[in-house]
Amino acid sequence: MYNEIDLDKIDLNLEPPMEEPARQYYFMAKCREWVRGFEQKNGRRPLACTQTFGCQMNAKDSEKLAGILQAIGYCETESEDTDLVLYNTCTVRENANTRVYGRIGYLGRLKRQKNGNMKVILCGCMMQEAHVVEKIKKSYPFVDLIFGTHNIYKLAELLEKSFSSKKMIVDVVDKAETIVEELPSERKYNFKAGVNIMYGCNNFCSYCIVPYVRGRERSRKPEDIVAEIKKLAASGITEIMLLGQNVNSYGKTLENPVHFAELLRQAEQVEGIQRIRFMTPHPKDLSDELIQVMAESKKICHHIHLPLQSGSSRLLKEMNRHYTKENYIALAEKIKKAMPEAALTTDIIVGFPGETEEDFLETLDVVRRVHFSSAYTFLYSPRSGTPAAAMPNQVPEDIAKERFDRLVAAVQEVSAEFAKQAVGRIEEVLVEEEKSDGFMTGRLKNNLLVHFPKVKSTLGSYCTVKLSESKGFYYLGEEVKDVNKNSV
Ligand code: SAH
Ligand code: SF4
Ligand code: F3S
Repeated sequence: MYNEIDLDKIDLNLEPPMEEPARQYYFMAKCREWVRGFEQKNGRRPLACTQTFGCQMNAKDSEKLAGILQAIGYCETESEDTDLVLYNTCTVRENANTRVYGRIGYLGRLKRQKNGNMKVILCGCMMQEAHVVEKIKKSYPFVDLIFGTHNIYKLAELLEKSFSSKKMIVDVVDKAETIVEELPSERKYNFKAGVNIMYGCNNFCSYCIVPYVRGRERSRKPEDIVAEIKKLAASGITEIMLLGQNVNSYGKTLENPVHFAELLRQAEQVEGIQRIRFMTPHPKDLSDELIQVMAESKKICHHIHLPLQSGSSRLLKEMNRHYTKENYIALAEKIKKAMPEAALTTDIIVGFPGETEEDFLETLDVVRRVHFSSAYTFLYSPRSGTPAAAMPNQVPEDIAKERFDRLVAAVQEVSAEFAKQAVGRIEEVLVEEEKSDGFMTGRLKNNLLVHFPKVKSTLGSYCTVKLSESKGFYYLGEEVKDVNKNSV
């Protein structure tokens, strides 16, 4: 960990070391010198604003980037009108890209009108696409630094280069050369944390850009993961979320292959950890062993996010998902049989090329039969370079939107039904948010939220709450003394 390394003891008269992570510590120390100069000139420390546009994996990367900036000496700020702005981008759907372009334009105006010295840094999935980098070079020449998903660990080295250059620096590589660990990380919460268990994806679902921008699947060693979890537990973290694009194919690429179910068993042994979650399993690889480990566990939350994408077996084949509607429903039933109180959530795409009304009705049918507790619904967005973008029969926007609205209505109906079942129960929640109006937000083990007036509970603590009223996809509740707790 960086706090075990004293950056001020690094001899900057020497050449930078070639090996990692020592090389990055050297550049962090160099950047720190720059920060001292800034402080002398301005009478304050420089400020940095880090924004995440993507999924949990991106958010986790942002914590590492923020950690490096903090080690260098930057203070964090929410405002983008500041000394350094870093956008960690997402390109999974076009609207993610559009948002980023809009915001970069805004940064350009700030830089022109208010602060010519502002550093603008772009990284993440969008930057792995050559056409994006071209567009930025052409239309947003004020950007200082661009890097991708495979070299986030190099932030200090690239920033140091950028301090002494007026030109835009671009460092995007196609493949992860190394996984550099043991770098600083600045966590968003002090009671829950994400833990990467693998990087990349090998599935190549035909609509999806992720394998192109995140590279091939690579698993971290179980001993490294468990060591990280122990460290987190020692620092007060009680809930962990194991992260990967297809967690149940975890371990296949290791020298000594280990199943995801086995990793969960090991994670469960870590003292101090009370809740374990994971994201995302793929229906095609969800094993009976995993269901069993979950059912027997007191710590693994009985919530599975199981992306359906479509209920039409024909479209699932076109999507390269490797399961059918029937397989999916049977799997959901198996999960519910082993864990009757489990919550299933999902992702669904509407308007995939060639989707007919009949295909769409199959999707609605699955939604009604599986009783999801919630679902993320997306309009299909063509991603250049993916097979689906070149498929004929792209669905007209008005038809896709009309189906989308019907799907959202169906999801609301089933999720309200799901939530209603637990009204009146007394449950343990992890308190995740404290609102200014005196309300707290707690998360149930099954991932649903409950808002309740604060009595004694504190942020990050576990407390017992009665679920008084269902509001569709969340509850209103009240804190109760720790009695007759149900064990969901
Ligand atoms: N690895 C996860 C999810 C990754 S992306 C999985 O396998 O499910 C998150 C969600 O974005 C996907 O589940 C999918 O529903 C959606 N998505 C991905 N590509 C998309 C596209 N081109 N258009 C619309 N939605 C998309
Ligand atoms: Fe994309 Fe499919 Fe990989 Fe998920 S499993 S990241 S949807 S290619
Ligand atoms: Fe987006 Fe990249 Fe995640 S494309 S969804 S941020 S892996």
